[in-house]
Amino acid sequence: MVSPWRLVLLGACLRVAAQFPSLLDATIDDLRGGLDSGAFSAVDLVTAYLGRISDASSLNSVTEINPDALDIAAELDRERAQGRVRGPLHGIPVLIKNNIASMENNNTAGSTALLGAKTPRDAFLVSRLRTAGAVILGKTGLSQWANFRSSNSSNGWSAHGGQVFGAYVEMQDPSGSSSGSGVAAALGLAAATLGTETSGSILSPAQRNGVVGIKPTVGLVSRDLVIPISEHQDTIGPMTGDVKTAAYILQAIAGQDANDNYTSAIPASIPTLPDYVAACKLDALSGARLGVPSNAIELFLEFDSTRQVEVDAFTSALDTMTRAGANIVQNTNFTELEAWANSRAPGIVLRADFLTNLASYLSKLSFNPNNVTSLADVSRFTKTISPGPEEFPSRDTATWDQALDPQSGFGNDDPRFFPILQENLRLGGEGGLLGALDRHELDAIVLPTSFSPGFAAGVGSPVITVPLGYYPANTTKVMNTRGNLVDTAENVPFGISFLGRKFDEAKLIGLAFAFEQLTKVRGKVKPFLVPETEVRRRDA
Ligand SMILES: *[C@@H]1O[C@H](CO)[C@@H](O)[C@H](O)[C@H]1NC(C)=O
Ligand SMILES: *[C@@H]1O[C@H](CO)[C@@H](O)[C@H](O)[C@H]1NC(C)=O
Ligand SMILES: *[C@@H]1O[C@H](CO)[C@@H](O)[C@H](O)[C@H]1NC(C)=O
Ligand SMILES: *[C@@H]1O[C@H](CO)[C@@H](O)[C@H](O)[C@H]1NC(C)=O
Ligand SMILES: *[C@@H]1O[C@H](CO)[C@@H](O)[C@H](O)[C@H]1NC(C)=O
Ligand SMILES: *[C@@H]1O[C@H](CO)[C@@H](O)[C@H](O)[C@H]1NC(C)=O
Repeated sequence: MVSPWRLVLLGACLRVAAQFPSLLDATIDDLRGGLDSGAFSAVDLVTAYLGRISDASSLNSVTEINPDALDIAAELDRERAQGRVRGPLHGIPVLIKNNIASMENNNTAGSTALLGAKTPRDAFLVSRLRTAGAVILGKTGLSQWANFRSSNSSNGWSAHGGQVFGAYVEMQDPSGSSSGSGVAAALGLAAATLGTETSGSILSPAQRNGVVGIKPTVGLVSRDLVIPISEHQDTIGPMTGDVKTAAYILQAIAGQDANDNYTSAIPASIPTLPDYVAACKLDALSGARLGVPSNAIELFLEFDSTRQVEVDAFTSALDTMTRAGANIVQNTNFTELEAWANSRAPGIVLRADFLTNLASYLSKLSFNPNNVTSLADVSRFTKTISPGPEEFPSRDTATWDQALDPQSGFGNDDPRFFPILQENLRLGGEGGLLGALDRHELDAIVLPTSFSPGFAAGVGSPVITVPLGYYPANTTKVMNTRGNLVDTAENVPFGISFLGRKFDEAKLIGLAFAFEQLTKVRGKVKPFLVPETEVRRRDA
């Protein structure tokens, strides 16, 4: 006779075996372990993630599923059975933002103008992911046009996709523009997600959904067939539950591409790119020199004192890093901070780039059902089909109206552009991040993530955000400016950013990994909605 205790224990073991790893927290290393040992297949994983996407459908983070995902996973399983394993991403499902082209899905930046449009091939980074064995599971919702249309829309809203909601509070503002990627990473709807950033579009939704985000150097990852805002600032990077998983994804997508000549700025060629996964070292903070630009923190708190909670947590994080052997250098101030804050150059650069770069993207389409070839066409289309899915004029087109203004709007091929670009580079370079790094011989600058994106955006420098904390119980609820979503409330997460020199991702990944492993903030508060579907193990 088996004692009742043994039955209870046996039951508990089976449940643990059947449920481990929970896909909410599974790292790529966990999933590789399961795939390598035969505990589950890529088809099992895709099936489980599709179940989770369905469990979490009320948050609307995924706009389209790849109809071929299961077939692709089955093919990768056959390869594995024949002894061919492409590498750490073999059979790993990923979700990509809906401005990155993949052949099975629409690529629209959330606009109905591009529904049904076709590109001649995958975006370069998607072809890199496929070659590495990743399964493209589908497309995530975004702030329409990567938040480059309207002054009164809401984060995470697009006509093709609808409103994405954040993972931590009901009706949460998911932040943006990579909103769905942040939420999907938070809920474990794929092993990793990809976002894009021009200024804050990876970092902000990563922090507000309690996950890691890497905003790589402009030029490390090709923008080929990614719907652009700005050739000088756009970049693509991973959003994931942990730093090492992000490092695996970055390793796969980084590298030179003849179709994006900014990638020729990569100092070393592909075979000698740094090993981002090996950079994940527990002792990386020891001996590191980390600068705090106190004047930038002061300036932002003047604009928005509700972020004091984030600054207080940031200040204790400095003590934590000191105990781990880091040298914190205070007052590594940005010398041109006031001039930067008052400069019109950052906005002009983006509008000029968008005018030129959008037309260039549209010219590459192999099928263009609405015949939109310029921003003027897209604007006309958006206004003409209203009222309708584009919700014009309730969501206006103020950003485009400025870019298209016959007096003040111009493309980046206009003679007026060059001096403005130079002003932007000087304020953000010598007068900002790059000057502070060099003057104080720093490895990185650290900032609360709410204050970090703008300082790296203009100069194309890399930033990594890691979870730092959650708003406490006594937080006064603040709505977004449109009044339809909760911006700040109890349990809303926030992050800490590590900012560095161009192409210094390996160093930043090390610092972020060491901090993450020391603090383990993710998981201290759970998302308010946790998907229940888990991968079925064949060995359970
Ligand atoms: C792409 O959009 C078209 C038009 O709305 C739709 O019929 C099609 O199902 C979409 N493709 C996918 C893969 O969802
Ligand atoms: C970069 O590529 C674009 C088109 O792909 C081309 O117009 C431009 O001249 C190139 N720039 C350089 C510096 O090669
Ligand atoms: C840096 O900025 C802080 C805050 O504005 C200020 O108190 C401090 O004096 C500045 N330090 C230097 C060296 O400029
Ligand atoms: C787009 O242009 C093509 C070729 O000129 C034409 O046949 C088609 O009707 C146009 N479509 C729209 C929506 O204007
Ligand atoms: C957004 O701005 C437009 C143009 O100013 C205005 O017509 C519309 O009412 C605004 N929407 C909201 C929700 O305030
Ligand atoms: C909220 O609680 C924290 C301690 O958890 C305290 O430090 C802070 O002053 C309180 N804030 C308000 C606005 O009451």
